[in-house]
Amino acid sequence: MDEPIGVFDSGLGGLTVVHAIRERIPGERLIYLGDTARVPYGTRSAETVVKYALACARQLVARDVKMLVVACNTVSAVALEALREELGIPVLGVIEPGARAGARASRSGRVGVLATSGTVSSGAYERALRAVDPSLQVVTQAAPLFVPLAEEGWVEGEVPERVAERYLAPLVPHEIDSLVLGCTHYPLLAPVIRDVARRLFPSEVTVVDSAAATALELDRLLDERGLRSSRGERGLEVLVTDQPGAFSIVASRFLGESLGDFPVESIDL
Ligand code: DGL
Repeated sequence: MDEPIGVFDSGLGGLTVVHAIRERIPGERLIYLGDTARVPYGTRSAETVVKYALACARQLVARDVKMLVVACNTVSAVALEALREELGIPVLGVIEPGARAGARASRSGRVGVLATSGTVSSGAYERALRAVDPSLQVVTQAAPLFVPLAEEGWVEGEVPERVAERYLAPLVPHEIDSLVLGCTHYPLLAPVIRDVARRLFPSEVTVVDSAAATALELDRLLDERGLRSSRGERGLEVLVTDQPGAFSIVASRFLGESLGDFPVESIDL
């Protein structure tokens, strides 16, 4: 199975998932599609997100991907079923792996989730966490300002700290001890979130990154479905629907390496 794995997101944030996959599974070729012309998805209706997600997926299927990783939490929250119904290939979302890792990290059974408004209102993380353990207490918090902060690279200092305080404060009375970062962009703010959590919560809170959990799950799935590439070729091709001003700086930040080393193609959906 030497075809590439397709990965897509509403924009460039999903490159945090590509980074995690490249770290964990170096021997696979990846095609990443970022719908940069229509980001953000997190504030849109579920119907619109499903429509956009199907367009992204069809584009990747036309490029012969052997399976699809939905790097976007908002798409994973509302469109996974529609994607699985239409596409004849395995589809992996980020919510179930993130929820399993979040549940594993909790000793108290009280788990917090930070996500976009769309993901929070879908209830997808509550469902996924309760599927792991019905006795879990789950509290979700929308953290929309983290998305533009990550895009701007404003990931340390006073401003992100103040924003993190506002988002984490409502979780303090719930005495969570595990906090899932349920959005592609939030791993960039993980150091600030960890610092602020250390200050606000009386006991330790483990911050869980769903990108790393998804890469782990993908690794397992490749063997389970007999999809692992025999060539061990490493590669990344990037497709975007728009290339805004600071495109390659922002993309490199999410990817954790220079985007300059990879082919980037602008496409229309
Ligand atoms: N990719 C989205 C997510 O993970 C965040 C950005 C957006 O709102 O589109 O939910």
